[in-house]
Amino acid sequence: MRTPQVVRDPGLPGRVTVFEVGPRDGLQNEQTVIPVETKAAFVRRLVEAGLPVVEATSFVHPTWVPQLADAAELLDLLAADLGDTAKELPVLVPNERGLDRALEKGARHIAIFGSATETFAQRNLNRSLDEQFAMFEPTVRRARDAGLDVRAYVSMCFGDPWEGEVPVDQVVEVGKRLFDLGASQLSLGDTIGVGTPGHVTALLDAFNAAGLADDALAMHFHDTYGQALSNALAALRHGVTTFDASAGGLGGCPYAKSATGNLATEDLVWMLSGLGVETGVDLEKLVSTSTWMAQQLGRPSPSAVVRALGGA
Ligand code: HMG
Ligand code: MG
Repeated sequence: MRTPQVVRDPGLPGRVTVFEVGPRDGLQNEQTVIPVETKAAFVRRLVEAGLPVVEATSFVHPTWVPQLADAAELLDLLAADLGDTAKELPVLVPNERGLDRALEKGARHIAIFGSATETFAQRNLNRSLDEQFAMFEPTVRRARDAGLDVRAYVSMCFGDPWEGEVPVDQVVEVGKRLFDLGASQLSLGDTIGVGTPGHVTALLDAFNAAGLADDALAMHFHDTYGQALSNALAALRHGVTTFDASAGGLGGCPYAKSATGNLATEDLVWMLSGLGVETGVDLEKLVSTSTWMAQQLGRPSPSAVVRALGGA
């Protein structure tokens, strides 16, 4: 399989962590029912392709996100397939009810997901901006007491479909508050993909000034306007070393108008390989997984790298 010529940039980190969100962010928006066995095979293939972190599913309200209503069953299948590795796969948890369901299945890594804007907090969580913290606080406390690792997402960091521009200070305030609940990492979400590289740099500078260094941050780009890879490069140059991505570029958020798929993992891995930045990901296995998944979904992958390497 073709690979990019490696031309190292000495200013860049030697290794980054690719945080695969395809099975969760990628599939949560699918309208057709995907058999739970297909989801389990997808997760297993991603693990086998060397992805160090694979977010498996969400323990959210099944009426709100019907596609992930099979979360418990999926974790059972994965435990049978992968043994204890299944417990290391992160899962989304919005509240204590979600935490209970995740604990029942032995999950060791959970993620809460807050909103930087009032409107999206209401649409995605049925809570006001302030009320979301009251929901997350006991969830994180109990998770930490049980020895779990907690990631926090903050959405709408670069713009909101209802409110328009979102001030950097507002994002930093909400993000820091979420992180300070007891998270080990804060993932900055460009939920609707409107960010551009200068905005990325400005937001990271503002978080650093507020005491959150790049090693506590991850970037979560959606590719609606084709900016995700440029934005990732800006964050990489800034010093961020964790990037969320979705195999084959699957995805979108069911509660955010105009959110399309995440940055495709293949596109990210291709760029990082060319820059000589290690990821541990086997691009050939990953492309074959995304090609297979595109067949299951009945439509071609939007990833340029998947298409160029002969996948569907
Ligand atoms: P609510 O209706 O306000 O819930 O939903 P409630 O607390 O009022 O409870 C109502 C009923 O739901 C109760 O049952 C609860 O037990 C039950 P009853 O007593 O009436 O029989 N319930 C649950 N059942 C199962 N699992 C649960 C759960 N919670 C309550 N976890 C809630 C509030 C937060 C639950 C709802 O709004 C929800 O599930 N939202 C999730 C939306 C979602 O998953 N969005 C996509 C993920 S976010 C995203 O994609 C962005 C991200 O990728 C980053 C980026 O791109 O920016 C992360
Ligand atoms: Mg997302």
